[in-house]
Amino acid sequence: MTDTESIVKEAGLSPARIPEHIAIIMDGNGRWAKAQGKERLEGHWQGYRTLKNIVYDADALGVRYLTVYGFSSENWVRPENEVDGLMDLMLRAMQSEIEELIESGVRVRVSGRLHELPPDLRAEFESAMNRTTTCHRLTFHLAINYGGRAEVVDAVRTIAQKVQDGTLAPADIQESHISSNLYAPDIPDPDLLIRTAGELRLSNFLLWETAYSEIYVTPTCWPAFDRDHLIAAIADYQRRIRKFGAVVE
Ligand code: FPP
Repeated sequence: MTDTESIVKEAGLSPARIPEHIAIIMDGNGRWAKAQGKERLEGHWQGYRTLKNIVYDADALGVRYLTVYGFSSENWVRPENEVDGLMDLMLRAMQSEIEELIESGVRVRVSGRLHELPPDLRAEFESAMNRTTTCHRLTFHLAINYGGRAEVVDAVRTIAQKVQDGTLAPADIQESHISSNLYAPDIPDPDLLIRTAGELRLSNFLLWETAYSEIYVTPTCWPAFDRDHLIAAIADYQRRIRKFGAVVE
């Protein structure tokens, strides 16, 4: 038995149905901080510690892709000190984690309107992507300054350019043209979408890609989410019957 198989069995999960791609809306950092009498930014720092653990837990369980909503294109309206604090957190997190990510074979990908980020943070993300291109275990995919609608708009702009150039006829446009012009066309759609802190909405996350994802919502705030919560979400996923629009008896 491989290490992954024994970890999966020990967790009571079926090795045959580990989701290939898990996406997470890491919500509830602020509520967690408030409940502890701490500043909101302390909630984000604890959220980063949770994220670090979950990256390696997901990899150990055989998950191939993990996409997390790190900063949405709507988050810029938060108080300036929180936005600056989050930019600083992401920069410092990438700087301190990159060597361990490489050693662990984790490939880093970052999607979103990266050109609008502070230049040092953008450079750090680009360096992490370049340095991990040959890593072949988990792909850790961060959605940063990301919006699902903006992603579709960006894809449509590329397609419209082809139409204007005369290389694509409007009547020939298929779903595959949208899919192949999204930010990470080589990453398969998420099998399982986890949202922490209880809200029942998508918040503009992966709108196109989650068309057939199974959704799991837990009341636990992200800073308190751990390996056992991840296993519970995967166990719930394994009890679902995925139909993709078909009749399944
Ligand atoms: C939502 O909680 C969380 C965020 C907007 C930020 C998520 C960021 C992290 C977990 C740090 C990640 C680190 C890297 C390297 C990406 P909220 O503030 O909306 O919580 P609330 O709804 O309880 O106020």
